[in-house]
Amino acid sequence: MDQFSLFDSPEKKEHNRAEARVSWLRREVERHNRLYHQLDAPEITDEAYDALYRELVELEEKFPDLRTLDSPTHRVGGAVLPYLETRPHRERMYGLDNVFSSGEWEAFVQKASRALPEAGPEIMDSWWADPKLDGLACELAYENGVMVQALTRGDGEVGEVVTEAMRTVRNLPLRLAGTGPFPRRIEIRGEVLMFRKEFESLNRRQESLGQKTFANPRNAAAGSLRQLDTGVTAQRKLRFLAYSLGEVDAPGMKDWETHAQVMESLTRWGFDTPPEGRLCRTAEESREYYEHLESLRDSLPFEIDGVVYKLNDREAQAALGFTARAPRFAVAWKFTSRKAETRLKKISIQVGRTGVLTPVAELEPVSLGGVMVSRATLHNEDEIRRLDLRENDVVVIQRAGDVIPDVLGPVLEKRPEGLAPFEFPHVCPVCGSPARRLEGEAAWRCLNLACPAVIMRSIVHFVSKAGLDVDGVGAKWVEALIASGRVKSPADLFTVTREELMSYERMGEVSAGNFVAALEQARTSASLMRFIAALGIRQVGEQTARTLAEHFADMDALEKASVEELMLLPDIGPEVAGSIRAFFETDSNRELLERFRALGLWPKGGEKSAGRGGALAGKKVLFTGTLSRPRDEYRRQAEGAGANVASSVSKTLDYLVVGANPGSKLDKARALGIAVLDEEAFMALLSAPGSGEKGGQAG
Ligand code: IVH
Repeated sequence: MDQFSLFDSPEKKEHNRAEARVSWLRREVERHNRLYHQLDAPEITDEAYDALYRELVELEEKFPDLRTLDSPTHRVGGAVLPYLETRPHRERMYGLDNVFSSGEWEAFVQKASRALPEAGPEIMDSWWADPKLDGLACELAYENGVMVQALTRGDGEVGEVVTEAMRTVRNLPLRLAGTGPFPRRIEIRGEVLMFRKEFESLNRRQESLGQKTFANPRNAAAGSLRQLDTGVTAQRKLRFLAYSLGEVDAPGMKDWETHAQVMESLTRWGFDTPPEGRLCRTAEESREYYEHLESLRDSLPFEIDGVVYKLNDREAQAALGFTARAPRFAVAWKFTSRKAETRLKKISIQVGRTGVLTPVAELEPVSLGGVMVSRATLHNEDEIRRLDLRENDVVVIQRAGDVIPDVLGPVLEKRPEGLAPFEFPHVCPVCGSPARRLEGEAAWRCLNLACPAVIMRSIVHFVSKAGLDVDGVGAKWVEALIASGRVKSPADLFTVTREELMSYERMGEVSAGNFVAALEQARTSASLMRFIAALGIRQVGEQTARTLAEHFADMDALEKASVEELMLLPDIGPEVAGSIRAFFETDSNRELLERFRALGLWPKGGEKSAGRGGALAGKKVLFTGTLSRPRDEYRRQAEGAGANVASSVSKTLDYLVVGANPGSKLDKARALGIAVLDEEAFMALLSAPGSGEKGGQAG
């Protein structure tokens, strides 16, 4: 960096200051990215993060020569490519051979040992094991610590250039962490993954926008990475887990002796690596590790399909080399797919909260990957017809990532004679009213708003985890209260007393007390997001509820929003917006809301800012001096218009509103060039049409 000098021009001095600041900001932003995305331990608020981030963007805009490849400002994407270029890998990216049993695994180890007779057991009995990640392999090149290129595996010889897209992946370092020295050039290999949670919410988003959904997280990750518009990739929250190296060019630097040391370096440089990685020293340990990972399989946040074992000694690795398609020093021990055969006793129909009739397979209980299974989902009428499933069929079921298994199909050879094809019911099995299959929908629905099943499910949903998340109010009790006629709407739950509850069989004093206390707690402190999610508005899940709660002050504000206004919000398309409007246009819903208001269950939201129509959306305002009206009133008005009210003057402040006798805040704001308004000007601003600006958070 240039030195400061007495003889520098003011411009040069400013440039120098900016350079120092930019470099500090980058380190800070990356540090907070890491705290937020990798360690789940943020140290600062989103707002403070935004401020740092924005300052960096502004400085890079003002001084284009300070822009660098490793700046975290690349993480939001934005580059739009005309097509994906391809480029050869400097070192081929091999696949892995598979084994499927401990016998095959031991045979693989023996073959390796025979190929390397001079290597003793201390070398051949030391394998680095980690989960086989079910994503998409990718190779990142770093030159002198800075990421310069990313290639997909492609066919192993030639990959697609996905550098810009990979820069948006927040858990990978754009610049290697630590002080170095760094290799002149090094290739880091690993897997790009989409976590299950993100995959599910992406599919929900896609569905509500009427766009195609992805079959599994791997496809979703691949589709998201191979985007020409990297802004799309940035929204998809991909992750990179590093597990090996490609070409290394590091003259004068000590090479790694073991794979364990490689993994240590990767961690030190700021990469996330596959969890649970460890050394296995005997066949016994390797088998235990395999079983251990299989037991963890469903609880990991991403999908894995086996274990990869790599000979730990790097010299021995090199000596063993590769076959035409895979290394001789590494192998994947794949999980066996969890399939089983059992009898489909009956296809029963459940009525969900939205009236959808869902077919459920009632099975002869069978063990599947160590879990007893007696039910499986059948999705809808078309699925049953496609599989030609009949009651009393022998069926093959499979558990994928989820706990609820899928029915793959009947075993036709084992089909008893005379089974009739399944007739999907066209009436609601609970209330008997006619069901309808709406155009373009796969589901049959009970359209009776008063269907007991629909009411029961909606009330259970209201307090469930996906709703208000009231701890201590179990579905069982809610069902009992409904069955007895005491509760007919979710609002009734809040009027149930401890004494009433205790008259129910098996409800003790303590549980009854907990039940009432939990509802009271929810009544007074539920967030707007949970409240909206609890209402069960069609197409409005937790994610959309969050968006709405961030943008609207309360249900009154949401009720006033038009379809057009709603569609300005992230991820809200015409269908979701229409469904929200339809909710408010239904009298019974409005009555229900009035009951909640009367009960005092009326949460406030608007955490991020009010509607984008708000005149001060995304702006930061501070009041100072003696004002002619209560400060709280001004605060509410500002927040209602979408502003954040700050507590001190800083560069990120947009307006300082001054009353009589302002103090030092005014001087400071003037020094920083911040807009200063009197009360009248502020009121005028409030009534101006909104800027529609969006306060983006990169974190
Ligand atoms: S190591 C020479 N470790 O699986 C060994 N690969 O089906 C290089 N994969 O193309 C790879 N998880 O991309 C390694 N923990 C892991 C892995 C892993 C997934 C990929 C790898 C390979 C593919 C083979």
